[in-house]
Amino acid sequence: MKRVTERNAMRELSRAWRGRGERVGLVPTMGNLHRGHLELVDRLAERVDRLVVSIFVNPLQFGPGEDYDAYPRTLEADLAALQGRGVDAVFAPTAREMYPGVEPPWTGVDVPALTQTLCGAARPGHFAGVAVVVIKLLNIVEPDAAAFGRKDYQQLQVVRRVVSDLDLPVEIVEVPIVREDDGLALSSRNGYLDDGQRRRAPALYATLCEVGSALESGRQDWAHLEAQAARRLEAAGFDEVEYVAVRRCEDLAEPRGDEPRLVCLGAARLGAARLIDNVEVRLNR
Ligand code: PAF
Repeated sequence: MKRVTERNAMRELSRAWRGRGERVGLVPTMGNLHRGHLELVDRLAERVDRLVVSIFVNPLQFGPGEDYDAYPRTLEADLAALQGRGVDAVFAPTAREMYPGVEPPWTGVDVPALTQTLCGAARPGHFAGVAVVVIKLLNIVEPDAAAFGRKDYQQLQVVRRVVSDLDLPVEIVEVPIVREDDGLALSSRNGYLDDGQRRRAPALYATLCEVGSALESGRQDWAHLEAQAARRLEAAGFDEVEYVAVRRCEDLAEPRGDEPRLVCLGAARLGAARLIDNVEVRLNR
């Protein structure tokens, strides 16, 4: 497994593979790898000849007062976790290498159809920062396929939209959420939870599942279901419920009532951790 820190070296390596007719895959991450990331790696490894994992804590996607400085950086442990999983290269550039010598404001990528709601409303500029770094990583690695987790549901739709609108020649591979036994979705930010908060955290998934069951039973009073779910999370001890929302899967718009699939998404804070999760439901229409 090669460790690459420079953009040009990464591009050359990937081009050499592709020049030999090999199919290249990219798993973009911010490191602090857990089983959720390893699932992305394993799923993509099945579909490509060469696999690159990028590890880069992207400053552009953190707002003022967010956890950019505190975000766990565990490169050596991450490299160890990737050993033996068919990873050919880890691309781990510095911030200076990714954004050399240019002061903000950086070139932005606006995806207005998807980013003014949910996490985009709560974290202004976050998805523009994600879109910029994802496009940069795709331009550097030039992969045939890239894997993204369904846990970051809105991010996945933003990436799909960017790839489609900008004609980026890459297949987006979507990977299901990996959960702890009690339902909590794996996330690097779970590490911020103390024991008491950790015990309360699975209520997010449980609550979204309840909304999912109500939708499956035919309920269409979305606003009522959302408000009830938010109250349940408050009662379960969450410090702040940012949103619980029932949305259409592809464009995250409010449902009309005739959709074959819907997604219920939630974001809530427990102490220093901002947790997000979602549950997709198929409806018999
Ligand atoms: O999902 C993440 O870890 C990040 O948002 C990503 C896609 C690696 C971009 O920094």
